[in-house]
Amino acid sequence: MSKDSLSIKDNRTGKSYEIEIDDGNIKAKDLRQIKVNEDEFGMMCYDPSYENTAACKSSVTFIDGDNGILRYRGYPIEQLADKSSQLEVAKLLLDGELPTSDELDKWLSDIKEFNNVPDGIENIIKSFPQDSHPMGVLISSIAALGTFYPNAKNITDEEENYKNICRLIAQVPILAAYFYRHSKGLNIVPPDDSMSYSENFLNMLFDGDEKKMNPALVDAMDTLLILHADHEQNCSASVMRNTGSSEPDPFSSVASATAALYGPLHGGANEAVLEMLSDIDSVDNIPSFLDKVQKKEVKLMGFGHRVYKSYDPRAKFIKKAADNVFEITGTNPLLDIALKLESIALSEDYFIQRNLYPNVDFYSGLIYESMGIPTPMFTVLFTIGRTPGWLAQWNELLNDKEQKIARPRQVYTGYDSRDYKDISDR
Ligand code: SDX
Repeated sequence: MSKDSLSIKDNRTGKSYEIEIDDGNIKAKDLRQIKVNEDEFGMMCYDPSYENTAACKSSVTFIDGDNGILRYRGYPIEQLADKSSQLEVAKLLLDGELPTSDELDKWLSDIKEFNNVPDGIENIIKSFPQDSHPMGVLISSIAALGTFYPNAKNITDEEENYKNICRLIAQVPILAAYFYRHSKGLNIVPPDDSMSYSENFLNMLFDGDEKKMNPALVDAMDTLLILHADHEQNCSASVMRNTGSSEPDPFSSVASATAALYGPLHGGANEAVLEMLSDIDSVDNIPSFLDKVQKKEVKLMGFGHRVYKSYDPRAKFIKKAADNVFEITGTNPLLDIALKLESIALSEDYFIQRNLYPNVDFYSGLIYESMGIPTPMFTVLFTIGRTPGWLAQWNELLNDKEQKIARPRQVYTGYDSRDYKDISDR
């Protein structure tokens, strides 16, 4: 008997089974041999919301939730946020290595080469009511973008995939800026190839407004994008992989991942945090709010995480970045409520017992708001940051020989066979 195995005895039948342990885990399919009767399907793992299921092997991002560690391709997030740039991090996530100077130059010029948004897209974006939620517009326009590149369906063509990866990373921020300008009744500001990625994004939003494009704010934006770039198998990355596993074009997969990110339990939390802080309105109201949280009437948005059972390292960094931003923009009046809310929550048993700490969404919205970005755009910024991570996960999926179309099983709890009843007999 190999020592790297589980010995399982099924007490229903007295039969014993050896299940191989590979890299500390078992293959769920190896449980299928465990049956009472031969004609049964065999045993499965029941794991609603996949709390203890590894759906893939990945070398893109590593998280140690107990110790608050996050690394992209082995590099600590703190070092990348301090020293790198969003596009360099995107290249790292996609290729697995930091680019050389020549490789980075080529990458930056490719991103600029593929940043021309098809004409029809501007009309599609302008067809939305100005008060539409930007995430609904972004989901729709990313999917629409794919229809202008019919060859994108050839996902076995690496050259084609590279072009579409460049298009998505280059054009998602442009779609976002186009809608922002439309929602304000302003003229579209085209991309400016003389600018860096984040500077260009802020310019497309604010059309050269020097106050809003202060170099320190450009840096803060780029750092925030880096901090959002990937996070292993989170909800939206899993959707990216699931959608990608049926082999549509990457625009459709990114649109589906964007839809998953939109939810307030995921990327939509940054918008929900600002609404929550505004509702609390004063530090005097924090005790009664936290009382409602402990009665489970409301959630403390921006707190808690499926993996981090300690402080989200990104939240720590964002909180630090906030100080630099507020030095320029003036502090956000909601910051005092957020800081007080955090300090009280972290001292209360309800949160301590459940390992609830601030996550990436708790402070990010305060920075965005101080930079002049409207609350409904916050998850759009999360999407811009996360697009390279989704594409790195998608690329890894396409090259993983163990992967095929995602199709989980179920535990059926419905009726056994029964005959149709005429309506007169119901
Ligand atoms: C992101 O997965 C990722 O990596 C996501 C992300 C990424 O980069 O991709 O990090 C980005 O989505 C961050 C999370 C943003 N969401 C929020 O801030 C929304 C508020 N947070 C919660 O909804 C919750 O914490 C989740 C969804 C983030 C995690 O939920 P889990 O892992 O399913 O935890 P749970 O719901 O099982 O909670 C365990 C307990 C429960 O209480 P009991 O039933 O044990 O009494 O903790 C409580 C929950 O009620 N709880 C909270 C809470 N989060 C959990 N109670 C109040 N407020 C909260 N925020």
